[in-house]
Amino acid sequence: MKKKLIVGNWKMNGSLAANASLVQALRAGMAEGTACGVALAVPAPYLAQIQSLCAGSRIDLAAQDVSQHEAGAFTGEVSAAMLRDFGVRYVLVGHSERRQFHGESDATVAAKAQRALAAGITPIVCVGETLAEREAGQTEAVVRRQLAAVIHANGRCISEVVVAYEPVWAIGTGKTASPAQAQEVHAALRSQLAAATAHAEAMLLLYGGSMNAANAAQLLAEQDIDGGLVGGASLKASDFLSIIAAAQSKASRS
Ligand code: 13P
Repeated sequence: MKKKLIVGNWKMNGSLAANASLVQALRAGMAEGTACGVALAVPAPYLAQIQSLCAGSRIDLAAQDVSQHEAGAFTGEVSAAMLRDFGVRYVLVGHSERRQFHGESDATVAAKAQRALAAGITPIVCVGETLAEREAGQTEAVVRRQLAAVIHANGRCISEVVVAYEPVWAIGTGKTASPAQAQEVHAALRSQLAAATAHAEAMLLLYGGSMNAANAAQLLAEQDIDGGLVGGASLKASDFLSIIAAAQSKASRS
């Protein structure tokens, strides 16, 4: 059976003090035999802190972005090798906030995924349509285009990425895609991956967009939803722990 994966994306939130109490509460609240993967995507300055707070726990470290460049004169950028130095296991690439506010193109996102893979870090490739695109009936075309760029750039390594479907209209809005809406897109993404790799069934496809303690179980019950990428609800220990508990009680087909 495939284990679910729940990733908290803290975005640009946190402080040394708040992070310490949040991680301590998560560690205390996670059941001994937690049977799903758990990771925290934290702001880069806190990687060292969270690495040490999570040492010896079942919580993996994730970063929110990575440079498409290897090293050198790229002021402000953080390389994949630097992330690896801090024990980072996953990195988000192509989050809609990066695409929207930092002008990241499909090609940039694909290059970032390549850099991560080359450094032994699993990229979590985010795709998703805007409300206007959904209303224009373009949802599948948009997410397929976004994923195609990453498939094209990464060839056979594509089976090593995690994909996150995050409809832009559901992010931070309290509007969640219905389980059926999310499943429909996840199934389309899975079949696109199946055309590129024999391992598509084993790959993890996460849903993100206003996932919370109340709706997680229903979303995670869908056949092709293998986990969650959680924003706001990952900042409150009790909510995030409820989502982890919901994931533990569901297992995807393998
Ligand atoms: P919210 O859970 O706050 O809607 O954010 C989702 C998200 O963007 C996670 O990456």
